[in-house]
Amino acid sequence: MPRYSDELINEIFSQNDIVDYVSQYVRLRKNGRDYTGLCPFHKEKSPSFHVNQDKQLFHCFGCGAGGNLVQFVMRSEGLDFLEALKLMADRVGIILPEEDNLVDDKLYQKKKRIYSMNKAAARFYYEKLTKDEAGKCGLEYFSERKISAKTITAYGLGYAPDSFDVLKKHMNSLGFNDDELLEAGLCVTKNGKVYDKFRGRVMFPIIDLRGNVIAFGGRIINNVEKDGYKPPKYLNSAETPVFNKGKNLFSLNLAKKGNAQQCILCEGYMDVISVYQAGVTNIVATLGTALTENQAKLLMKYTGEILLCYDSDEAGQTATRRAIDIINSVGGKCRVMRLKGAKDPDEYIKNNGIELFRRAIAEALPSTEYLLRTLKSNFDLDNPDGKILFVQGAAKILSGIVSAIEVDAYVKKISDETEISKDAIYAELKRTKSQDKIASGTVKTAKVVSREKKSDVDIKIIDAQRRLLSLIIDNRRVYLRVKEEFPPSEYSTDALKKLAEIVYACHEKNEIIEPAMIINKFSGDDADFISKIFCNLETYGDEDNTILQLVNSIKLDRLNGELEKATNENDAVKIKELLSLRLKLEGNK
Ligand code: UTP
Ligand code: MN
Repeated sequence: MPRYSDELINEIFSQNDIVDYVSQYVRLRKNGRDYTGLCPFHKEKSPSFHVNQDKQLFHCFGCGAGGNLVQFVMRSEGLDFLEALKLMADRVGIILPEEDNLVDDKLYQKKKRIYSMNKAAARFYYEKLTKDEAGKCGLEYFSERKISAKTITAYGLGYAPDSFDVLKKHMNSLGFNDDELLEAGLCVTKNGKVYDKFRGRVMFPIIDLRGNVIAFGGRIINNVEKDGYKPPKYLNSAETPVFNKGKNLFSLNLAKKGNAQQCILCEGYMDVISVYQAGVTNIVATLGTALTENQAKLLMKYTGEILLCYDSDEAGQTATRRAIDIINSVGGKCRVMRLKGAKDPDEYIKNNGIELFRRAIAEALPSTEYLLRTLKSNFDLDNPDGKILFVQGAAKILSGIVSAIEVDAYVKKISDETEISKDAIYAELKRTKSQDKIASGTVKTAKVVSREKKSDVDIKIIDAQRRLLSLIIDNRRVYLRVKEEFPPSEYSTDALKKLAEIVYACHEKNEIIEPAMIINKFSGDDADFISKIFCNLETYGDEDNTILQLVNSIKLDRLNGELEKATNENDAVKIKELLSLRLKLEGNK
């Protein structure tokens, strides 16, 4: 049996999309984060079949079938792993070694078509801007904003004329029909008519790491109300088969080239372009939405440290705090830049020049320091109430930090600032941590457990472990919290142990957890079970409390099992030992 490299298998998986493929068999509807439909593997009347596009997995909560795309193909086509893999490779035009017949495929062709449409459109907009009378106002706009011809070329900027169909006509003449233009998001329909989506806007092509134009952002240049309607300042491409706005970053293709130790993350296209033009090229922006975990992970692949450089207004600062959370949750490092006297990086550079901007980079605050300073500015530290509130807030910020050295350094600083003793601050920190845990509900004590059958106890433990592992997978913070207390060896089944080992190792090495690849290491019932862990649908209001409850209930259930056994065996010493353990555990919740 030939074995293919992980890279090759990875490539086959990353070029296929499970939602696309499964849609050929199942009518899927978007339902929250998942797509759902009627399970093709068992008879059912209401949909319990879920497909998760982010994780590229399916799971049926009715019959329990689950896995990645290849495992879906295996099951639905009755193929073995290699046959199914080959089918997936063929779909995207990847030739497996020793094979030479290439089978064309619908999705692959569609994506190729959209890439070439986007490229043609980008060229059209660029030519309009740089060579056409119609684009003169765009050129004037860029020149007012001090964007040079060189920068226009570097970014492939363009202008979409204020017309309903110039792009459409041009694209039609190149052989792209209206349906295709709609699918690429370059045109939209209204009252059954197809017309250009971007009109009277300067255009920013969004380019992926392979150099494909995947989408556009367009900025209005003449923002006046027309027929009682004011168009939005920016318009972005809708999601298409080649574009997911939560998974890409503007200008990462250019930022990546510098191989910098740091990368600046800001809010706007114009910020990126203007900073880049001034000579700082390691800068990217999100695409009109808040930072996602996927984007943070993507960025961390290329840089050691993220420098947050959001707008200085209230919204920008709120977004900064959210971004810090996201970056921390995926194990990244960030600092926060402060640009005094300017609303955004673009304006700052215009007012102060690039040297001061470079200094702002050097002086960016570590994220914890930034959070503490922001907090401090809200309180009057000259009076006791202010001090108390500040220390309470600070304790919340510090409670998430894992490194004891780091915590100590900040505790010392806070103590100096407030003249509250380090001991008292540590006490507050401890109280905050335990309060987080107790917040709501209690662990169901397992006093009744002796009446339950042993196998029920096992099922309960396994279920709790499954839920805990789901949380660990989705959140590195949870991992850091439980890894010591709950190493892989603590899990009850071989499949859980194996999955825990893989997931813990990923977190430890700061690697992206790729469910669809990991699940390849499991087959049959194990793959079904593992897919349920990855596709966990439960949400938890108070996560910290849930973790504690899960860990405690796992331990309690196990203890009760042992207790029952000791009781049956009349082992008085053991019973006493277990009872005191149980008492301790119950006091700990
Ligand atoms: P800004 O309004 O700060 O824009 O929005 P900007 O990039 O700094 O542009 P100028 O300098 O005002 O011309 C920041 C980002 O938010 C998204 C865009 O991605 C923009 O770059 N945005 C903004 C939208 O998607 N839609 C909008 O209507 C406004
Ligand atoms: Mn801005």
